[in-house]
Amino acid sequence: MTTYITTPIYYVNAPPHLGHAYTTIVADTYSRFRRLCGETVRFQTGTDEHGDKIVKAAENENIPPREYADRISAMFRATWPLLDVEPDHFIRTTDAAHIAVVQSILQKVYDKGDIYFDEYSGLYCRGCERYLTEKELVDGNCPDHQTPPQEIAEKNYFFRMSRYQQQLIDHIRNNPQFITPERYRNEVLAFLSEPLEDLCISRPKARLTWGIELPFDATFVTYVWFDALINYLTGIGYPDGKDFEKFWSVAEHLIAKDILKPHAIYWPTMLMAMDMPLYRKLHVHGYWNIDDTKMSKSIGNVVRPKELVEAYGVDTLRYFTLREMSFGLDSSFSSEAIVARQNADLANDLGNLFSRATAMVWKYREGRVPEPAGNSEEDLVLQDAAQAMIGEYRAMMAEFRFHLALQAIWEFVGLANKYIVGNEPWTLAKDPAKAARLDTVLYNLLECLRLLALTLRPVMPGAAAKMTAGLGFAPDDPRIASLEEGGAWGRLTPGSGLNAFEALFPRLDAKKDEPQESDPIALPQTRQETVPTVAEDLIDFDFFKKLELRVAEIVAAAPIKKSKKLLKLTVNAPEERTIVAGIAEYYSPEELIGRQVVIVANLQPAKLMGVTSHGMVLAAKTIVDGKEKLVLSSVSESVEPGSRVA
Ligand code: MSP
Repeated sequence: MTTYITTPIYYVNAPPHLGHAYTTIVADTYSRFRRLCGETVRFQTGTDEHGDKIVKAAENENIPPREYADRISAMFRATWPLLDVEPDHFIRTTDAAHIAVVQSILQKVYDKGDIYFDEYSGLYCRGCERYLTEKELVDGNCPDHQTPPQEIAEKNYFFRMSRYQQQLIDHIRNNPQFITPERYRNEVLAFLSEPLEDLCISRPKARLTWGIELPFDATFVTYVWFDALINYLTGIGYPDGKDFEKFWSVAEHLIAKDILKPHAIYWPTMLMAMDMPLYRKLHVHGYWNIDDTKMSKSIGNVVRPKELVEAYGVDTLRYFTLREMSFGLDSSFSSEAIVARQNADLANDLGNLFSRATAMVWKYREGRVPEPAGNSEEDLVLQDAAQAMIGEYRAMMAEFRFHLALQAIWEFVGLANKYIVGNEPWTLAKDPAKAARLDTVLYNLLECLRLLALTLRPVMPGAAAKMTAGLGFAPDDPRIASLEEGGAWGRLTPGSGLNAFEALFPRLDAKKDEPQESDPIALPQTRQETVPTVAEDLIDFDFFKKLELRVAEIVAAAPIKKSKKLLKLTVNAPEERTIVAGIAEYYSPEELIGRQVVIVANLQPAKLMGVTSHGMVLAAKTIVDGKEKLVLSSVSESVEPGSRVA
């Protein structure tokens, strides 16, 4: 199977923003998903560089359009790696190969008699770069740009779009999946229920020179849509490239609702005039608003991808946009919403599941995958749920319903977390007779983690790579890089080793982590290295990584007989353990209950006054009124017990 997925080619009149980022993240996620299914994929994006809009933007900067287009196109190209977006091809409409193909197609359609010369007067919107009908206006203004269109009368070339109206209606009716979600299919069919007008496809050079010259009339350039839409063909080597043959029949276009008409009406009728098969699918998504307000330069609320990545991290941005938007509907972006998802879904649910489960495998099985020993009823329920999740995930991802695919994954994360609580591995670990059961529970948990790393790979490539490494897999091991080979339960090999596990997601603070304004062009700078000056004996990072610092919640505290200094603490980190702390002179047992402190969790056990201590509570040593005092460590807000401190 093969897949060809495209984004719109973006206008180069302004730098990329969240809307462009979203479409391109979706296309990247989809192409990674198809690759996970074993398919050959081609993913194309690029920039649309001709037309009025760009001339105007370049004039504002006092530079020629070509230079301006080069500059903004480079910004788009430089943005995608920041988002872990990896297109196979980046096309520019100023590429010589594209220009040649547009001209050959214009000639072909002209020779066929589907392009004619005529006089036209109408209401032209510069923002849309097209004539509007009276019906489209709202209070005399363009509904998208809120500006009055200009009355223009001139001679131009027209594409006989009306000739293909019935053929298009039939195609849409016979192919229910041609335009999805259904609301947009219905919108197009409703529009086509009225007679279709022919499409003006030229501009006299007297008015616009920044465009592709018509091959049959050198005094005109082509109107941007005829130029732009053809990128989907030129990018794969039309008319006779190998990739064209391979990919055109499986083309899927991804757009937002703003450019539905050009893609659902102009483009298929153009293809009909060229005697070409139509693209396979058109996927249409809604608009991102910012805090429920339309994103616009004049309001000053345009959000830049680079700022978002710097504030929240690329995985969080990808996850948030895919999880938050129901594909097809509008959605609102806010810092509060992204921070909430990061803290609840990513740090708490997913991050904790990974750190708890792998920590237990390190603690009880020295970081080796144990051999499972027979499944209980509950284990089978978990395994069935895993298979159901994979099935739902596959179906939803294939239909661009990413929020539902992610919902299914997170329900499964919830089940896995419950499985830990229900099985209490820390209690099993205390009883040697239950070693086989502990093996099974830990194996099952690791399998859950493997399936999560596998399914999240298209959505969060960075986090999935960390999970993959932590579980001890090579990046392209099919058990974690292929749905076919890795989608079934039980692919982990007992005896194989885990690797040290990097924490996945930090908790964020809504206020502190708001995006900062930054130059959208500049690429991330490598940070200036700073060298600590106070430490005498520096340790290397590997040494530090050996320290297992965790947040522990004190659930019980009691004095230790015959000791003035020591208290026996019972803490949850997240499994229960006893720690002896020398803080009796400074804290009463009652005031300690419920506090969260930082502990060293991997200290060798030690017996103090007859009580074995499993770890050490961290406290600051200070002097108050000339006397030494210990002040307990804490975290600035409550976190899941057991959270790693790093
Ligand atoms: N150049 C044309 C497309 C030609 S395709 C053959 C164009 N360019 S654009 O720069 O205006 O990009 C429009 C696209 O950007 C939308 O269809 C969508 O993919 C994305 N978005 C722009 N603003 C958006 C939002 N506010 N929300 C979501 N996506 C939006 O039109």
